[in-house]
Amino acid sequence: MGKKVTVFGSFVVDLMGRCPHLPVPGETVKGSIFKMGPGGKGFNQGVAAHKAGADVTMVTKLGEDAFADVALSTMKKLGMDTERIFRTGQTETGCALIMVDETTSQNEILVILGACDTITDEEVESIADLLDQSDFLLTQLETNISSVEKIIDIAFGKGVKIILNTAPVQPVSDSILSKVDLITPNEVEAEILTGIPVDGEENAGKAADFFFEKGVKNVLITMGGKGVYLATPEKRGILPAYRVNAVDTTGAGDAFNGGLVAALAEGKDLWEAVAFANALAAISVQRIGTTPAMPDREEIDLFIHEQEKEEGS
Ligand code: RIB
Ligand code: NA
Repeated sequence: MGKKVTVFGSFVVDLMGRCPHLPVPGETVKGSIFKMGPGGKGFNQGVAAHKAGADVTMVTKLGEDAFADVALSTMKKLGMDTERIFRTGQTETGCALIMVDETTSQNEILVILGACDTITDEEVESIADLLDQSDFLLTQLETNISSVEKIIDIAFGKGVKIILNTAPVQPVSDSILSKVDLITPNEVEAEILTGIPVDGEENAGKAADFFFEKGVKNVLITMGGKGVYLATPEKRGILPAYRVNAVDTTGAGDAFNGGLVAALAEGKDLWEAVAFANALAAISVQRIGTTPAMPDREEIDLFIHEQEKEEGS
């Protein structure tokens, strides 16, 4: 058994429609497929890590409504521990309105966080004992920022390794950055956080230096088709992404981050973990949906095996 992972973040129900093109303001577009299912960056990442084989405890907050049941039934079906889920009768469970362009597979997302925007300091403090047993904390910026600050603070105090996925992007305090072991922005987020346009390896390096100066230990910038830029104190470089035909890129970053923490929890080093995480992302973009698109371990291993065969031939 690998090390123990806590994933702290949002759950929302994704209401997804596919359309011939994304509507512009004032335009009504006739869509084709509608799907409703579990989502939210935190939940997607938690499920991705769990299905990849990690020992995950998911921490999120739900209302007392039908959307909350979507989270609970998904977790039960997957055999995930639901003990650390906060509930509130005051606020609805969150939801996201997602539109996917079926030609380009680009998306537009409106997320209404509901319960996940109301996680209190007391609730975060109540899971301190969980962090005592955890080796890794994976979190994002999709719940209220005070809750992210609080969990990072507690986790840091306990020596838990902190992975921060900076989505959806918003300003992050120096105090948070100084506690982060691994930061995982995409190129757009990296630019917003550092002020450096990340358009290639050279500028990715400058952005990494910015984070290093703030006390972040390792920097990983996902750059879409250009691959993943990784900077550790010892070594820097770009790891290529797999080339696949995408039908829906929503949640690909979540697949990546979940895969990453699962691989690290197994004891893989960062470079090996990125290769593993790239496989989850590549599989997920070939499937419609977010949480439901996350592959299980068998599918991941098979994908990596087939890619290696192709490279060899
Ligand atoms: O990263 C994808 C996720 O972002 C979706 O599942 C949606 O819920 C939004 O929060
Ligand atoms: Na997908």
